[in-house]
Amino acid sequence: MKLTPEQKVHFDREGYLFFPGLFSSEETKTLVDAVPALYARREAYNVREKGSEAVRTNFAAHLYSEPFARLARHPRMVEPVEELLGEKLYMHQYKINGKMAFEGDVWQWHQDYGTWKNDDLMPEARAMNVAIFLDDVNEFNGPLMFIPGSHKEGVIEARHDLTTTSYPLWTLDNDLIRQLVARAGDKHGGIVSPQGPAGSMILFHSCLVHASTSNLSPWNRVSVYLSLCAVSNHIRRHKRPEYIAHRDFTSIKCLPDDCLLKNSPVDLPWKNGMPASALETSIELLTEAA
Ligand code: SIN
Ligand code: MN
Repeated sequence: MKLTPEQKVHFDREGYLFFPGLFSSEETKTLVDAVPALYARREAYNVREKGSEAVRTNFAAHLYSEPFARLARHPRMVEPVEELLGEKLYMHQYKINGKMAFEGDVWQWHQDYGTWKNDDLMPEARAMNVAIFLDDVNEFNGPLMFIPGSHKEGVIEARHDLTTTSYPLWTLDNDLIRQLVARAGDKHGGIVSPQGPAGSMILFHSCLVHASTSNLSPWNRVSVYLSLCAVSNHIRRHKRPEYIAHRDFTSIKCLPDDCLLKNSPVDLPWKNGMPASALETSIELLTEAA
């Protein structure tokens, strides 16, 4: 899938691109159907909401679930990111965020690259976030919110919040958010929130400031968040476990466009369980550019 010149200009100016209904309902169903069994597993890679059984985020499903392994190699997702970053990519992080009906908690205002820089020592913001909706997303079920153009700020000073939710995040100060929103148009476009049917995709810059509110609606808002990094920009430290920040810097090879429907074969290295090494961490710098 090639981007148009207008889409490239939009991405550069606003920091995101929205593709409503990019995947058909048949394609999306292959993913949706696999989620309950993944969420039911009692594994470190399922992080639950604070004080609740609801899954907040599931990590690394592309290493043990066939449909999610296919999505990780889908040309409609990978090719536009390769085009924008001008390089082959590897999978830095892979999440299926629940944001379950009544229980899904907030994601505070943050930039993803702040975490990747501070924790993983990723050299530059040459990695892209991709969100793929597995449920319809509307104004009630906790949609993503962006401050358009905020990626131009580069890395903003952040505070490591270890208490608000069950997942630690480098979050931004409210005064700064107020200023950024005012600069982006305040009540007239200073916050945008792409909403649409299951199967929609958003690409967004790793410095784009974003957040989402809790989900008090009776509708789940399950979405896949993939973070693809330029191979030469791989992380330089393994301070976070491998199931959160991946250590295989091999470039992604795309499958055919119909891979979700034709069940293209995929390798599942963790299909018999996560290796113990995936839980290990280290603050040592990597010695060589592996
Ligand atoms: C994220 O920022 O990583 C997740 C946000 C969301 O699920 O709404
Ligand atoms: Mn994020």
